[in-house]
Amino acid sequence: MVLKIRTYPDPVLRGKAKEVTNIDGALQRLIDNMIETMYAAPGVGLAANQVGILQQILVIDINPRQQTEYPLIALLNPRVVTAEGSAEGEEGCLSLPGFNAVVERAERVFVKGVDREGKETEIEATGLLAVALQHEIDHLRGRTILDKASPLKRSLYKKRALKKSAAE
Ligand code: NI
Repeated sequence: MVLKIRTYPDPVLRGKAKEVTNIDGALQRLIDNMIETMYAAPGVGLAANQVGILQQILVIDINPRQQTEYPLIALLNPRVVTAEGSAEGEEGCLSLPGFNAVVERAERVFVKGVDREGKETEIEATGLLAVALQHEIDHLRGRTILDKASPLKRSLYKKRALKKSAAE
């Protein structure tokens, strides 16, 4: 089932997601729905906050057409344990339609978490996958790329988004 993607200024995007402690059928359905929603958008990643759920769940597929090189990732309770280097790149976000910002991220990250079966997992990532992991983990902490933009760019987008949501 494709879920509704929450967009700015929905307060759930500012919420801090809680650790997942119970891996049950409802959680598996939620993960499947998040994957479906990400592909339908289409996007390369989605955090549970973006579908209105404050649980630490992210899904990422940076290259849906080449499933062998970068498989679909579903990760629970993810945390960055090592971050090295820095790289700048332009990012967008499904929760911030029409917004792009150049964001500085670590170039290489080592992320730990739990897979959907409850098994401890470690991912070492560079490039786009490293960016996607950091972007989605930020969402789970209540942060978006809006926080990383310049104050002027941020206030322009906020004005535009608030005007739009008032008109709806
Ligand atoms: Ni995003």
